[in-house]
Amino acid sequence: MQPRQALHALFGLAVILVAAVGHAHAADAVKAPPLKVGFILPMTGQSASTGKQIEAAVKLFMTQNGSPVAGRKIDLIVKDDGGVADTTRRIAQELVVNDKVDVLAGFGLTPLAFATAPIATQSKTPMVVTAAATSAITEQSPYIVRTSFTLPQVTVPIADWAAKHGIKKAVTFVADYGPGLDAEKFFKSQFTLDGGQVTGEIRTPLKSPDFAPFLQKVADLKPDAVFVFLPSGQGAAFMKQFGERGLDKSGIRLIATGDVTDDDQLDGMGDVALGVVTSHHYSAAHPSDLNRKFVAAFEAANNFRPNFMAVAGYDGIRLIYNAFAVTKGKGGGDALLAAMKGQVIESPRGQILIDAQTRDVVQDVYIRKVERVAAKGNQLYNVEFDVQKAVKDPAKAK
Ligand code: PHB
Repeated sequence: MQPRQALHALFGLAVILVAAVGHAHAADAVKAPPLKVGFILPMTGQSASTGKQIEAAVKLFMTQNGSPVAGRKIDLIVKDDGGVADTTRRIAQELVVNDKVDVLAGFGLTPLAFATAPIATQSKTPMVVTAAATSAITEQSPYIVRTSFTLPQVTVPIADWAAKHGIKKAVTFVADYGPGLDAEKFFKSQFTLDGGQVTGEIRTPLKSPDFAPFLQKVADLKPDAVFVFLPSGQGAAFMKQFGERGLDKSGIRLIATGDVTDDDQLDGMGDVALGVVTSHHYSAAHPSDLNRKFVAAFEAANNFRPNFMAVAGYDGIRLIYNAFAVTKGKGGGDALLAAMKGQVIESPRGQILIDAQTRDVVQDVYIRKVERVAAKGNQLYNVEFDVQKAVKDPAKAK
């Protein structure tokens, strides 16, 4: 090779090298930033167990499924709102404006979800509700999708069961806010339709309730059964006072939604809870392989049992992962929302569907009885014995 040709060849190589390096730099520059999911949860205050359960389940899912989806890393941000609506709203605003989250999620109580709905609408950010359960929540924004449940959905089956099992007169006993009012209304309509009679309607304050005066009223009314809804976290205190006043031996049957015999507290309630019949969408004792694996992994990572909040968090983050995958990592509020609608998920509770029209969850609702389970260390569990398949939110069924 002549010196001149050699120089040309070298020059050519240099050009190629520079071009290649330039490409690598360009690739770095366009490398997609992480997708961001902002969970707002009550990690402190009266509903702290809801935050603890959901955070643990979301982290379990992310450990099991890895972070990159369609080539993009997923950043999880968890913020504590203390269960205060003004705080939830402020945090949601910051997550959308400063952190530019792709999805908002969580919402431990109905008022917290209501407070955030306008932010989801204005910013076109999907808002995945993994806890709060008043029926009307999904109607507060077209960007809301729910993976938890609705009170009408789990209340109608127990009203039906009660009427068909010898209960003629019932008193309702609910926390005095959205989900409690849904439970009261839908219990009464179904129970009455089935020929039963509601002989008293009792409402307890949401904040730090003392149940004693209300339980006295139940004792005075002497119904065949008292139907109870209280939000997750209040069941143990209720059950203790129910026992202390001797109501468990009064002949008045206790029936409830599964929020009262919550897996987070159930084993600590003791014998007073034995035989209580409830309806709900999730029991840690649900006898499927998928659930056994979920519970084992959850308990190995945490020193507590998963409850229905955990399962809704686990399915909520799966829904979000699936939506990111469908958009091939591109994200975008409207595209993510479209990808969430109509999804079917194999959940530890059984199969669930996100109804494309209502954006609410369709799922099986089980009738369960509290029993000591020998195979599980003689601990108290909600043992499922009957099921209503694929229940839609009855408040939206029409
Ligand atoms: C709610 O505030 O919507 C709520 C909270 C806890 C529950 C059920 C509903 O267990």
